[in-house]
Formats: sequence, C-alpha cells, structure tokens
Amino acid sequence: MFLPLVLALVGVATAYPNHFPQSREAHDPDRVEQLERSQFFLRPPESDLVWGDLNVLHTTDIHGWLLGHQKASWPEPNYSGDLGDFASFVTHMKQQAKDKGVDLLLVDSGDIHDGTGLSDGYPPGDVDGHESNKFLRQLPYDVMSIGNHELEQYEVAYDMYMSFIPNVHRYYLSSNVNITILQPSGKPQNVTFGKQYARFTTGKYNVTAFGVIYNNASKDKRLIVQPVEDMIKEPWFTSAIAEKTDVFLLVGHIPVAYELPESKWQKIVEAIRNNTQNKNTPILIFGGHSHVRNCTKYGNDTMALQSGRYMDTIETLGANLTSPTFNFSRRYLDQNRVTYQYHIRDMNVSFDTPEGLSIAKGLADLADRYNLTYQYGMAPKDYLVFPKDWKSKESIWPLFIDKALPVALATDSGRANIPNITIMNNGVLRYNIFKGPFTQNDQITASPYPDVIAYFPDVNFTVANNVTAWLNTHPTPCSNLRKRGDIDAHYPIWLEKATSHVSLGHQEVLTDYMTPGYVTNDTSTCPDTIKGDDTLHYPIDPDVFPPHYMNSTLPPNPPRTVDLIFLNYTVKNVVCALNKLTNSSQYNAKNAKLYSNVTTNQVFGLYALAKWN
Ligand SMILES: *[C@@H]1O[C@H](CO)[C@@H](O)[C@H](O)[C@H]1NC(C)=O
Ligand SMILES: *[C@@H]1O[C@H](CO)[C@@H](O)[C@H](O)[C@H]1NC(C)=O
Ligand SMILES: *[C@@H]1O[C@H](CO)[C@@H](O)[C@H](O)[C@H]1NC(C)=O
Ligand SMILES: *[C@@H]1O[C@H](CO)[C@@H](O)[C@H](O)[C@H]1NC(C)=O
Ligand SMILES: *[C@@H]1O[C@H](CO)[C@@H](O)[C@H](O)[C@H]1NC(C)=O
Ligand SMILES: *[C@@H]1O[C@H](CO)[C@@H](O)[C@H](O)[C@H]1NC(C)=O
Ligand SMILES: *[C@@H]1O[C@H](CO)[C@@H](O)[C@H](O)[C@H]1NC(C)=O
Ligand SMILES: *[C@@H]1O[C@H](CO)[C@@H](O)[C@H](O)[C@H]1NC(C)=O
Ligand SMILES: *[C@@H]1O[C@H](CO)[C@@H](O)[C@H](O)[C@H]1NC(C)=O
Ligand SMILES: *[C@@H]1O[C@H](CO)[C@@H](O)[C@H](O)[C@H]1NC(C)=O
Ligand SMILES: *[C@@H]1O[C@H](CO)[C@@H](O)[C@H](O)[C@H]1NC(C)=O
Ligand SMILES: *[C@@H]1O[C@H](CO)[C@@H](O)[C@H](O)[C@H]1NC(C)=O
Ligand SMILES: [Zn+2]
Ligand SMILES: [Zn+2]
Repeated sequence: MFLPLVLALVGVATAYPNHFPQSREAHDPDRVEQLERSQFFLRPPESDLVWGDLNVLHTTDIHGWLLGHQKASWPEPNYSGDLGDFASFVTHMKQQAKDKGVDLLLVDSGDIHDGTGLSDGYPPGDVDGHESNKFLRQLPYDVMSIGNHELEQYEVAYDMYMSFIPNVHRYYLSSNVNITILQPSGKPQNVTFGKQYARFTTGKYNVTAFGVIYNNASKDKRLIVQPVEDMIKEPWFTSAIAEKTDVFLLVGHIPVAYELPESKWQKIVEAIRNNTQNKNTPILIFGGHSHVRNCTKYGNDTMALQSGRYMDTIETLGANLTSPTFNFSRRYLDQNRVTYQYHIRDMNVSFDTPEGLSIAKGLADLADRYNLTYQYGMAPKDYLVFPKDWKSKESIWPLFIDKALPVALATDSGRANIPNITIMNNGVLRYNIFKGPFTQNDQITASPYPDVIAYFPDVNFTVANNVTAWLNTHPTPCSNLRKRGDIDAHYPIWLEKATSHVSLGHQEVLTDYMTPGYVTNDTSTCPDTIKGDDTLHYPIDPDVFPPHYMNSTLPPNPPRTVDLIFLNYTVKNVVCALNKLTNSSQYNAKNAKLYSNVTTNQVFGLYALAKWN
C-alpha cells in the first residue's frame, strides 16, 4: 500500500491525472465512482508541518458533516475527506508524534451536530445527533467542548449529558454550562454539564484545560450559561489557575476575533495572567462559532486559533513550550485524503486504518438506515445560498421561490391559479445545492426546517408588493423575529476580507493545477507567522449575504389583489408590515390561513421529483 500512495502523489504533482488521485479501498465504490466521474484532482500541500514539543489538532463546527463534502463543484472537493479518513490521519499523526518524542492533542470546540442528514435525518422518536455523535466518540479527542447547537433543544442537551459525555474519549469540558435535571425524587437539580476543567499530563507537560461558550448561548432556562465574567470569579476557577501548570488549554465555542462582542477570551487570559505565577505560562486557545479560519495573538505566549466549519478545515498547531521565546506554528489543512496522505508520506504505512475504515462503513450504514442516498433527481447546475446577486442564475433563491415552491405547493393548495406574492426569509435555507444527484441528504442539508407556509387572501396588490421592502428596512418591526441557526454574517464577511474577487467557473481544470479554495489572510493579527493555508488556492468568490426577506417575481399583469404567502413563523412581522402599510389594524395573526400541508423541507424533493428526473 505504501508504493501506490507515493506514485499517486508524484502523479498529481507532475502528470495532471484526470481522476481523483487516491481512490479509497473497494468498500466504498459509489464514492470512488462519484469522485472519479467529476474529473478533478486535488493539489497537495506545499510543505511539511512544523512540529513542536506540544502539538494540537483542532476541529470545530463540524455540524454533522462526517461524510465530508461529496460534491464535485469547487471548492467542495477540497473538503472531501470523511471522518474515517480523519480518524486514520489522527492515528498516523499520533504515531509520528511518538516517533519524534513529542506530544499531540486532539481538541474540538463544539457544534458537532445540525447540518446534514447524518445528524438531522433521524427517524421519529430519536434525537438529533444521537447516532452521528457516536462516531466522534470513536476518535481520541482529548478535550471536547460545547457549542450553542448543543444547547438549542433541551432534549439534545439532555441526550448528550446522558449518553455522549460519559462516553467521550477523554474530557468533555463545559466550564460555564449547567443543566437542570430531575433527581429520582422528581426534584429539579442544576448540575455541571461536562467537567468544569481538567488537569492532565501529556507525558511531557502538565496541562490545565477549560471549555467555555459565549454568554447568552442558551435560551432555555434549564440550560444555564454562566457569563464568562462571572465564571472567572468562581472559587473553582481561581483555585484551578492557582495550581502551577505548564500550559493552559482553552477550548471553546467563542470566536477568536477579539472585536466581536461575544469574544471573551481576553477576560480569561487576563484572569490567568493576573496570577503572577502564570505570567509567562503559554496559553493555547481554540475557538469556534463564527465558521472561519482565523488566528490571533492575545499578547505574549498566547495563541488563539479557529478552524473553519463543516469539516472543511483541520488546524494544526505546533508549539515549543520550553524554548526561551515561545515558538509556535499553525496551519489550516484542507480536509481531504490528499492532504492527509501528504503529511504521513514518510511513514511506511498504508493510509486507511481498521478504525478509519470501520467509521467510514458505519457512516455509510447510518446513511442507508436514514435513507439519505435516496435520489429525487439530478440537479442541472449549482445553486448558491450566498451568491453575488441573489436574483442571479447562480442563486438558490429564485429556484426556491419562483420554481420549486409553486410546484410543491400546487400539489395540495388548490390555489395555484390565484395570483400571489410569496415572501421568504433567508433563514429558510441552509446550504447550496450542487450539480448532480439530488438526494435525501442534499435536501436535508439545504433545507432542513419543517416550516409551515401560511397566507392572507385578497391582499391589495400595491400593499402586498411593499411588504418585503418594508420588512427589510425595519429589522425589528413589531416583535423580534426568531433567529435561526448559524447562518450569520461572519462567514461571508471573512471571505470578502480574506479573498480578492476572482471569478472561477465550477469544475474547471486549471492549467497550472491551482484550484479554487480558501486564501486566508490572517498574518496581521497573527504576527511572526507565515501563511496559514496548507494548500495554495485561487481565492473563491466571496459570499454575499442575501436580503433578510425576498419575494417572488410579480405576476405579469398586476392584479387587484393577491394571496400573500409567507413562512408562518414570520406571521407577526408580516401582520405588522401590513397594518403599517395600510395604516390600519385589519390584519391579525389569528386570521392567517394554512396555504398547504407541504412544509418547506419537502419543497426541493417534490420539485426534483417533478422536474429533475
Ligand atoms: C444552580 O444551583 C446552584 C446550587 O446547586 C445555585 O447556587 C445556583 O444559583 C443555581 N443556578 C441557577 C441558574 O439555577
Ligand atoms: C452549576 O452546578 C454546580 C453543581 O451543582 C453548582 O455548584 C454551581 O453553582 C452551578 N453554577 C451555576 C452558574 O448555576
Ligand atoms: C506535573 O504535576 C505533578 C503534580 O501534579 C508534578 O509531580 C510533576 O512534576 C509535574 N510535571 C511537570 C512536567 O511539570
Ligand atoms: C480574525 O481575528 C482578527 C483579530 O481579532 C479580526 O480582526 C478579524 O476580523 C478576524 N477575522 C474573521 C474572519 O473573523
Ligand atoms: C486583574 O487584576 C487587576 C488588578 O488587580 C484587576 O483590576 C482586574 O479586574 C483583574 N482582572 C481579572 C480578569 O481578574
Ligand atoms: C512581550 O515580548 C516582547 C519581546 O520579548 C517584550 O518586549 C514585551 O515587553 C513583552 N510584553 C509583555 C506585556 O510582557
Ligand atoms: C521547535 O524546535 C525544533 C528544534 O529546535 C525546531 O526544529 C522546530 O521547528 C520548532 N518548532 C516550532 C513550532 O517552532
Ligand atoms: C426513502 O425516502 C423516499 C422519499 O421520502 C421514500 O419515497 C422512500 O420510500 C424511502 N425509502 C425507504 C427505504 O425508506
Ligand atoms: C403563484 O402564482 C404563480 C403565477 O404567478 C403560480 O404559478 C403559482 O403556482 C402560484 N402559487 C405559488 C405558491 O407560487
Ligand atoms: C390598494 O392600495 C393602494 C395604496 O394604498 C390604493 O391606492 C388602492 O386604492 C388600493 N386598491 C384597492 C383595490 O383597494
Ligand atoms: C491582509 O490583511 C491586511 C489587514 O487587513 C491588509 O492590510 C493586507 O493588505 C491584506 N493582504 C492581502 C494580500 O490581501
Ligand atoms: C408601494 O409601492 C409603490 C410602488 O410599487 C409605491 O408607489 C407606493 O407608494 C408604495 N406604497 C406604500 C404604502 O408604501
Ligand atoms: Zn457552528
Ligand atoms: Zn455556534
């Protein structure tokens, strides 16, 4: 197995092969076939990792993407590894560390579920993430910490408390999170969710680790998030930092960008440094939540790193703790087998470990059990959630609002012939649809929320036509709109900043075999470091956030009245807009009618069955 690997890499570097260079073992023929059909190849990394005495591999915001990114459109193939591949890589990295006589830790900063069918496609009676999280437990994580998605529903948090945390490989830390559970007597009791902190030795170093999340990360009063400012005053915390240690390891669901209001890392660093014994103790911070690659220095001997989202990035840190000045290196690895095989190429081993293969098989079995490979049709092209122009051909929004909704809702609305204006909110969709097979998994990934579609009949056309613009200019009209998910502005802003505007076609094979991908510019906040990206790319187009509300193309001949169709969860805002625009109080949420029994998470499937077959 060693020889083919080397040849494959040489092949990539010199011969521009028209196929995926390292095909997986025969156990997953569908995937190999899919990857080969797509005619792309992945550029290998530029150089070896720079190891230190203490090394860390970091993941964050995995969001159920345990099968990696399986589509052929760029930049998806850059992230085509799966959790089995990553598990094999970790095993080899641990072995390399052992051979070099150094330490390697594996840490994760939370939001492990919510994002794909593997977590969200569970059958009735099960709990989101219960099955997919079991695979993460098989990896030798030293520290895992909690994300806000683990706190959105009590049943998910409770399931994690009961079945995940007791079984993680090593430490599940949640320094500032408590959960209220019922004692056998029926009395409620609030208890720490995971451990508040851990002290352990890597063999070489004593480590003191915390796992934190940003303030106000929970809206459920049974899931208690203590503000970081209060946590650092707790006696358990002050005594934990009073114990001498070689390194502080802060893992948490907080962006490393210190300008953001939710970023409280500085407070924890200050509290640690306030104890004079810790003045020069290295502090390693691994953040998350804003879904970006980033690196920040919080003063001398303090490094903060963040490694992307959706299994697109594995970050490595190497630190020489004992050298006179604290030296470190960091690298953002594209999450794929070419990356992994490159970084273990000097080891005389075959890449796939039994554990890695078993995880990959388990994931495929779970996907089957959840019917995720069921194919509704073939998508003719890519449709993006964050296109340059939301009305463009690249955009998923006209597909959803003008094409898919009419087909799906016509199945039972009985009102297809009545002119309408349909208003959608940008929280209704979650991810792109890519050219090729459109499966149950793709439907769940793009459009997971079972939102109910409501309407008001006979709305004055002129008024109805003004509702979207009114809502977009009145962010909190009469009530606060329910916020949804992690689709927030950080990620597109980052791409905007981190990349320059270069337009690239999809599936294009570039002559010098540079491929589109992340081009991270973080050296201004991470001084004295070289570029962080492990693989060189052309920058991808920056994402552009669509308007909060968007509406359908207007009926050709303006009618007097229309059905005003909207997402039921935005009814209060729509009513508010209608009453303001008509200067009346004639509209009332109670009078909104159900437009169809079809919920938004079924729309693309119904459309694909009808039009993409
Ligand atoms: C949780 O319980 C502790 C005592 O066990 C109590 O001091 C604290 O106020 C409780 N917190 C909340 C938010 O209920
Ligand atoms: C969390 O629970 C622990 C254990 O019951 C308790 O000591 C602590 O006061 C609680 N913290 C908060 C913020 O509720
Ligand atoms: C780690 O801490 C233990 C005591 O908790 C101490 O005996 C040991 O010397 C420490 N090791 C290092 C490398 O500092
Ligand atoms: C990375 O962190 C720096 C320093 O806080 C911040 O200025 C920058 O905006 C961050 N980048 C992203 C994309 O969050
Ligand atoms: C650190 O110490 C200073 C001076 O004693 C104090 O003003 C500050 O509040 C402390 N900060 C933290 C985070 O403990
Ligand atoms: C940080 O390190 C630099 C260079 O070693 C030194 O000049 C500076 O005083 C240090 N800053 C602090 C706050 O310790
Ligand atoms: C750590 O020190 C070794 C030996 O001096 C060196 O080769 C390596 O590059 C250093 N690593 C980092 C991350 O600075
Ligand atoms: C898979 O899902 C599709 C669409 O919901 C359904 O038609 C089909 O019967 C399902 N198959 C199985 C085996 O559950
Ligand atoms: C809305 O009106 C269009 C014609 O303008 C029609 O094709 C469609 O079926 C109607 N219903 C929905 C839900 O879009
Ligand atoms: C609809 O509303 C517009 C603007 O408020 C008004 O001018 C028009 O008369 C209304 N049309 C009908 C049919 O009520
Ligand atoms: C990287 O970011 C810094 C600060 O935001 C900026 O000054 C610099 O021009 C950027 N470099 C590149 C190559 O875009
Ligand atoms: C609604 O929009 C039309 C243009 O389509 C405009 O003329 C009219 O003044 C607007 N009415 C209100 C109430 O905003
Ligand atoms: Zn997230
Ligand atoms: Zn998050």
